[in-house]
Amino acid sequence: IHNLGDQNSVLNQFISEIRDVQIQKDPMRFRRNIERIGEVLGYEFSKELLYSSKNIETPLGNKSMYLSQDQVVICSILRAGLPLHQGLLNYFDAAENAFISAYRKHENDENDFEVVVDYFAAPSLEGKVLVLTDPMLATGRTLENVLKGLKDHGTPKQIHIVSVIGSQQGIDFVQSVFPAQTHLWIAAVDPELNARGYIIPGIGDAGDLAYG
Ligand code: PRP
Repeated sequence: IHNLGDQNSVLNQFISEIRDVQIQKDPMRFRRNIERIGEVLGYEFSKELLYSSKNIETPLGNKSMYLSQDQVVICSILRAGLPLHQGLLNYFDAAENAFISAYRKHENDENDFEVVVDYFAAPSLEGKVLVLTDPMLATGRTLENVLKGLKDHGTPKQIHIVSVIGSQQGIDFVQSVFPAQTHLWIAAVDPELNARGYIIPGIGDAGDLAYG
């Protein structure tokens, strides 16, 4: 786990704004901050890709540079994942994309829900770098279901989870169900999960804050 909010950086400015109940009234700022967090986390995880040297011809000479040829697939979980997805796409120009829908279905009991995955569009993941993006990691059950759904799409060579905020419990759960080499890049970790599966103090409902 790479908890990037642990270090002092401009990232914490973005996180404080998405937490702030006053600033949350501006959905455009909320979405843009999530996107900016995606850019920062994308830059950080790019350090784990495989690089090889390539000759670049400048107008006045040649320069050998280390560049990555890894094929990245960015996989978003609708709908709160969209601005985070855009942030990653801003830095990974040639990435392929996957979209998955997941929602919490409450039966009779407010506090009891199952995660339903309906829409599923993903390219082959064989030998590629899979980046799963979801701004909230509460119980971790959404990510577990998405991983199950991706099973018959081939075996990625690396899996990265990119999230904005998580509960400690959700992180522990995800670590128990994902392959051991999975990287988790997250901007903030909060201590508590309430009975309804909300992160406390958290940010509220990211999907509603971004899209109403
Ligand atoms: C939220 C969030 C995650 C999920 C996390 O989605 O965006 O996808 O809950 O919870 P979990 O870790 O307990 O599974 P929500 O169901 O609110 O849908 P939305 O993004 O469409 O608002």
